[in-house]
Amino acid sequence: MTKYWQVPPDCSPESGAVQEAAELLRQGKLVAFPTETVYGLGADARQSQAVEGIFTAKGRPSDNPLIVHIAGMGMLEELALAVDPVSRRLAEAFWPGPLTLVLPSRPGVLSPLVTAGLDTVGIRMPDHPVALSLIRASGCPVAAPSANRSGRPSPTLAEHVREDLDGRIDGLLDGGATGVGLESTVVQVDAEGRVHVLRPGGITLRQLAEVSGAPVVKGEGRPERAEGASSVSEGGGVETFRPRAPGMKYTHYAPQARLTIVQGSDVSAVAEAIRRGLDDARGNGEKTAVLAPEEHASLYREAADLVIPCGSLGDLSAAAAGLFAALRRMDEAGIGCAFAEGYPEEEIGLAIMNRLRKAAGGRVLEV
Ligand code: TXA
Ligand code: MG
Repeated sequence: MTKYWQVPPDCSPESGAVQEAAELLRQGKLVAFPTETVYGLGADARQSQAVEGIFTAKGRPSDNPLIVHIAGMGMLEELALAVDPVSRRLAEAFWPGPLTLVLPSRPGVLSPLVTAGLDTVGIRMPDHPVALSLIRASGCPVAAPSANRSGRPSPTLAEHVREDLDGRIDGLLDGGATGVGLESTVVQVDAEGRVHVLRPGGITLRQLAEVSGAPVVKGEGRPERAEGASSVSEGGGVETFRPRAPGMKYTHYAPQARLTIVQGSDVSAVAEAIRRGLDDARGNGEKTAVLAPEEHASLYREAADLVIPCGSLGDLSAAAAGLFAALRRMDEAGIGCAFAEGYPEEEIGLAIMNRLRKAAGGRVLEV
């Protein structure tokens, strides 16, 4: 049975619900909770049997390491063997917030299952009162992946957690909708002080470059130039450092529908290509959907069974916040074939397109 508590989004560590949830964590049980990015499924990161429960509940491959959530800088020193100056600067600037730092792990502190055999650990301090209260009240470093069944879109509402994990976990703190709506940016700083972005997310490349004053490099070794940030430079010598977030290789976020992204600079050409695809699918008797910024939604009203407006071109953060719920809606509606307009790949748009491409299994049509 999953115990369910509704809590105000600003609740304190003294709240009765938080106290009960914290006690469950200490007992090695699993509790889902809101963060500012997505809901996380938490367990005491020091107890192997608890951490194993996370992998079982989610159906997650055991070679994909978990992020450990902390509530204060003291915990950082306990978990990390060393914190290089660039990582420290990033932590001071962006914590609490949607940034995960991959750091050398202090041996013997965490369950080895958390790090999936790596000698590094991903650490983040979430910017959500419920998450911070839970971590403080439990006194545990809290290992928490997104609280979805493996492969499903990450949960941005407690309802999404229920859909995926009801009866499989011990508790769920419902603190309402999450904020950013996409997972944290995961970075690792190399020996030369370059910031490698292993997963784009809530903190943008420009922000990383501005604060670190160091070169910011995409995880695959491709240098990334953050516009307007003079401190970003080409990342030479990256061939000796190939950090990867192991999780990025798995199918993610995929709706049951066959999703295709259509992108191009000419809006009417994009709409035209999508409408043609919709016609074909309807001809085959499939139920269809389109996901597009709200200013373009009217282009598809007649052509698709379901049009899901998702954010707007003027406000990409709204698109980020709504993306995972939009993907879940396709499944609820029994959609067989779906198209998504591409979003501009700047700022948070980079993270939006990273998740959309995964949801589309790489099906992208350039027009
Ligand atoms: O916003 C978030 O980060 C959410 C909330 C709950 O905090 N958590 C989350 O966790 O997205 P998860 O497990 O779904 O994704 C963690 C990502 C994976 O891609 C994983 O491979 C990577 O972080 N990661 C974790 N530890 C790592 C490590 N030591 N080295 C490289 N990548 C790591
Ligand atoms: Mg996840």
